[in-house]
Amino acid sequence: MPENPFAWRTGIAWKNKDRIVIRGYDVNELTGNLDFGQMLFLVLRGELPDKAQGEITNALMVNLAEHAMSPSSATVRFATSGGAELNSAVAAGVSAIGRLHGTSDRPAQLFRDVAARAERESGTPDEAARATVAEMRSAGERMPGFHHPQHIQDPRTVRLLELSDKLGISGRYVRIARAMQDATEAVFGRTVFLNGPGAMGCIGLDAGYEPLELKAMFIVCRSLSLSAHAIEESTREKGWRASSNADMVQPLSLEMQGPHNYDGPGDRVLPDQR
Ligand SMILES: CC(C)(COP(=O)(O)OP(=O)(O)OC[C@H]1O[C@@H](n2cnc3c(N)ncnc32)[C@H](O)[C@@H]1OP(=O)(O)O)[C@@H](O)C(=O)NCCC(=O)NCCS
Repeated sequence: MPENPFAWRTGIAWKNKDRIVIRGYDVNELTGNLDFGQMLFLVLRGELPDKAQGEITNALMVNLAEHAMSPSSATVRFATSGGAELNSAVAAGVSAIGRLHGTSDRPAQLFRDVAARAERESGTPDEAARATVAEMRSAGERMPGFHHPQHIQDPRTVRLLELSDKLGISGRYVRIARAMQDATEAVFGRTVFLNGPGAMGCIGLDAGYEPLELKAMFIVCRSLSLSAHAIEESTREKGWRASSNADMVQPLSLEMQGPHNYDGPGDRVLPDQR
């Protein structure tokens, strides 16, 4: 490839007047043949996923796409109430995804470190998991991927781990995450539960993703929710949210998010043919 300081060197895609080629595949061949989870794997990892990798990618993204009011969706709501355009409001929401919210890369890195420790110390992953939980606790460090301020026991995690087991994805990193959760009982005197992004972290590693790619996966799927919140806020509310004539509230409190503040369809089940 000629050295040209103004060329965008990339292994992801190229295009000319007539064609768009992504990781070697013509976009029109991908279209209608890949679902979005498979496409995400291809674009981020460079190769097509196998069946289980594609299925777990879709499952993770469906599971973590929408979460009512959390720091990122509330940010979108406030940005929109100031009149920000959809793209700016969504970008503001994405900026609220960080160390404490929507973090799937940090738990992934933690599980990697525990695996490396087990090798270094010639111990089992369970021993390394227990030692890490105890050390982090005595150092007063929060474990990324554990505990959820709204749910305490995050309802998403069990379903994701169950699917990951069923698809044969669960491997060393899911085992480490489970061992860490188990170890919290002795260390904290109660269970500190793995949360949704933590499940994305361990399952995602076992599915072949890198930590930063898991952060990208979270941003991609949650941007769907952020877009919906921006559209709803701009079409239903008049702006300057919570500025006057409003009681003081904690907008992220679960008390603000129950069915009494929801006017979408009631509980229903997926149709049989699915
Ligand atoms: C998100 C977070 C800040 C919420 O904190 P919170 O609900 O306000 O909980 P508190 O900070 O009051 O913690 C209450 C107790 O739970 C425990 N705890 C909470 N989160 C913990 C974690 N991640 N690791 C270990 N212990 C934790 C601690 O024992 C704490 O008591 P202590 O301060 O006396 O040690 C915190 O759970 C956290 O840092 N989690 C990791 C980041 C993460 O995974 N975020 C994704 C959520 S979507």
